[in-house]
Amino acid sequence: MSIPEQGREVAVITGGASGLGRALGECFAERGLRVVLLDRDGERAEAEAGALAGKFGVDAFGSAVDVADEAALRAAAEGVADRFGRADLVVSNVGVQLFGAVERLTDDEWRWVLDVNVIGAARTAQAFLPLLRAAPHGRLSFTTSSGVLAPAARLGVYQTSKFAVWGLAETLRLELADDGVSVSVVFPSGMASRHLETSTAAQPDHVRREIGGPEDYAAMVASNPEMVRNPVSPDVAAGNIADALLAGERYVVTHGDLVAAVAGRGELLREAAVVARDRTPGPDAGAASG
Ligand SMILES: NC(=O)c1ccc[n+]([C@@H]2O[C@H](COP(=O)([O-])OP(=O)(O)OC[C@H]3O[C@@H](n4cnc5c(N)ncnc54)[C@H](O)[C@@H]3O)[C@@H](O)[C@H]2O)c1
Repeated sequence: MSIPEQGREVAVITGGASGLGRALGECFAERGLRVVLLDRDGERAEAEAGALAGKFGVDAFGSAVDVADEAALRAAAEGVADRFGRADLVVSNVGVQLFGAVERLTDDEWRWVLDVNVIGAARTAQAFLPLLRAAPHGRLSFTTSSGVLAPAARLGVYQTSKFAVWGLAETLRLELADDGVSVSVVFPSGMASRHLETSTAAQPDHVRREIGGPEDYAAMVASNPEMVRNPVSPDVAAGNIADALLAGERYVVTHGDLVAAVAGRGELLREAAVVARDRTPGPDAGAASG
C-alpha cells in the first residue's frame, strides 16, 4: 500500500550535505520519509537531496542555511512548512571542530565554535519547535560527540560545546515533555568524514588558522587512544542509529566501546553523590542534636 505524500513523515537535518547528516538523510529516505537537508554548503545540500529523491522516489530538497543565522533558520522552517506542511523529526547535527590547548584558545575562537555548535543548536530547536509540536510524534535530536563520554586533550572548545549541547537537550527534554516531543542525544564516535575540511571552510576570516596541527593530534591520541581506534564511515554510523532516532530514544551511541568510560564516570559520580547524601543532615537532625 503506498503512503499518500501528505501522510509521509518529514525529516529535517542540519549539516545535512555531508557525513553523518547526509547519511541519516539517506536512511530516512530509504524508510519512506521526505527529507530536507540544510547546510551552509547549499549547492551540495541541493545535489545530495536531489540524489536521495532520485534513488528512493521520495520528495526531498536541500537548502543553504547557516545555523549561525537565526533569520535563515526561521526562513528554512517556513520553507519546510510551505513545501511539506509538517516536520516530524529535526536532527540538529551541525558541528565545527577546532583543536588547541585550552590555555592558548582565543576569545574569538571560543565565540565561533560556541556560536555555531551550541547557539546554532538552540536556534535550530527554536525555529522548528512550532512544527514539531504540531506533529503527531515530534522528535528532536542533537548530535554531540563521544568526547562527551570519554574526553581527550586538545579538544577543549569542541568538547565544551558538545557538553553544552547535551545540557541543552536535557533541558528541552523536560520543557517539551508535555508537548509529546521526544529529545534524543546522539554520541558519535570517530567517523571518516569531511569534518576537518568543512570546519576549515566554515571558519570566519577573523579566526582562520589550521584546525589542528600534528602536535595537537598527538596529544589528543596520547590522552585517549580509543578516540581514534577503528573509525567507521558515516553510512555505517547512520545505519546503526536511524531507527533509534525515529523511535525518539533518549541516548544514542553510534559505535565503538564506551562502556568502561561511561561506567567508570557513573561510579565516580555515584560515590560523590553518596558522600554528599551521607553528610546531609536528615529532616529531624537539628532537633536530635539540639
Ligand atoms: N567525524 C567525527 O569523527 C565525529 C565524531 C563525533 C561527533 N561528530 C559530530 O557529528 C556531526 C557531523 O559531523 P561529520 O563528521 O558528519 O562532518 P561533515 O563535515 O561531513 O558534515 C558536517 C556538515 O555541517 C556543515 N556545516 C558546518 N558549519 C555549518 C553551519 N554554520 N551551518 C550549517 N551547516 C554547517 C558542513 O558544511 C558539513 O556539510 C558534527 O556535529 C560533528 O561534530 C563527528
